[in-house]
Amino acid sequence: MGTLAPGAQGTENVMRSVNVAVVGATGAVGDEFLRLFELRKYPIKSLKLLASERSAGKKLKFAGKEYTVEKLTAESFKGVEHAFFSAGGSISKEFAPAAAKAGAIIIDNTSAFRYEKEIPLVVPEINPEDAFRYGERRIIANPNCTTIVALMPTFPLHRKFGLKRAVMSSYQAISGAGAQAMAELEQQLRDWAAGRPMTVKIAPKQIAFNVIPRIDVVTDNGYTKEEMKFLWEGQKIMHHDSLRATATCVRVPVLRSHSVSLNLEFEKPVTPEQAREVLKAAPGVVVQDDPKADVYPIPLERTMKNEVGVGRIRQDISVEGNRGLCLWAVGDQLMKGAALNAIQIGELLLSK
Ligand SMILES: NC(=O)c1ccc[n+]([C@@H]2O[C@H](COP(=O)([O-])OP(=O)(O)OC[C@H]3O[C@@H](n4cnc5c(N)ncnc54)[C@H](OP(=O)(O)O)[C@@H]3O)[C@@H](O)[C@H]2O)c1
Repeated sequence: MGTLAPGAQGTENVMRSVNVAVVGATGAVGDEFLRLFELRKYPIKSLKLLASERSAGKKLKFAGKEYTVEKLTAESFKGVEHAFFSAGGSISKEFAPAAAKAGAIIIDNTSAFRYEKEIPLVVPEINPEDAFRYGERRIIANPNCTTIVALMPTFPLHRKFGLKRAVMSSYQAISGAGAQAMAELEQQLRDWAAGRPMTVKIAPKQIAFNVIPRIDVVTDNGYTKEEMKFLWEGQKIMHHDSLRATATCVRVPVLRSHSVSLNLEFEKPVTPEQAREVLKAAPGVVVQDDPKADVYPIPLERTMKNEVGVGRIRQDISVEGNRGLCLWAVGDQLMKGAALNAIQIGELLLSK
C-alpha cells in the first residue's frame, strides 16, 4: 500500500488515449470532470457527455470544442473505455452493468457499490493496488468526499503510528449536495440582501446563516449514513478492520471545500513535530500549521487546489501517553473528494 503511481498527482504522462463518457456531465461533479480533464490533459480520444432527458441537447464546452449532452440510455456506452459516473446511486446501479457489458471500466462517484466486498474503493495515495481489482463487474468505487478529505492526512500517520480510534467532525460545503443546493444558498443570500423571504427546497433547512447536523439519511443506530461512511470506508480503504471510528457530519454555509476536525488515537506515542514531518512527506497533503500567524487551511483558500491542507496539529491532551493528536484538514470535495480522485484512478489504470 501507499506507492503512488507516477503521474497520479498531476504530472503529465505519456498514456494511450481512451474513449471517455461522463454520466452526470451537467452536475457539480460533472463540471469539475470537464475542467480537470483539460487541466490534467487526460488522454481523451472521444468524449461522451451524458445526463437526463432534461439536459439532452444542452451544449457544453470542453478544450475549446462544443459538445452536445446526450440522454443516458443503456446504449450510450458503445466503444467507451472509461465511464465516470456521477449522477446518483440509482443511476449507477441501473446503468453500470450496461457500461461494463460494452467493455468500459466504471469509476463511480456514488455510494452505489462502495460497500460490496468485491468492488474496490480507492484513494490512489492510499491503496492504489486495489484499483486493478475491478474484476468482471469492471467497477471501481470512488469514496465519499468527506472520508477522502479525512483519510488523506490520517493514513500516513496510521502507517507510522498505528491508528486505533478516530473521532471526526465535519463542516461540509453546500456544493456537496449538488449544483442546485449551491444555487439555493446563493439565492437565499440574494433574498436576504433584498429583504425578501428565503425559500428552502433542496437542503432540509435554511442553510444561509445556519448549520445543519444531518447529511444523508438517519440510520437505525442514530448516526446518519454520511457519518457511518467514515467508519465503513475508512476500514475498507486502509485495510484496517479493527479501526474504531465515530463521526458527526454537519452542513455549513460554505460554497465549496469540506473541513474536518480529527481526534486520532494511536498505538504508539507521537508528537506534533513527528506528525508534521510525516505529513510534509505525504503525497497529496500540504501542511499549513502556524496558528499564531493565522496559518491553517480554510475552505476559501483550499478551493480549486489538488491537495488536502492540514493544520492545527496538536497533542490530544485527553489521550494518555502522548498517543493522541488533534488535526484540522480541509480539501476541495468536488476535486479530491470527487472528480480529481476519480481521474487519478483513471490515470493509475492508464499508467500500467
Ligand atoms: N457534490 C459533491 O461534492 C460530491 C462529491 C462526491 C460524490 N458526489 C456524488 O456524485 C453524484 C453527483 O453529485 P453532484 O453534486 O454532481 O449532483 P448534481 O449537481 O445534482 O448533478 C447531478 C447530475 O446527474 C444527472 N442526472 C440526474 N438524474 C439523471 C438521470 N435520470 N439520468 C441521467 N443523468 C441524470 C444530472 O443531469 P440533469 O442536468 O439532466 O439533471 C446532473 O448532471 C452524487 O451521487 C453524489 O453523491 C458528489
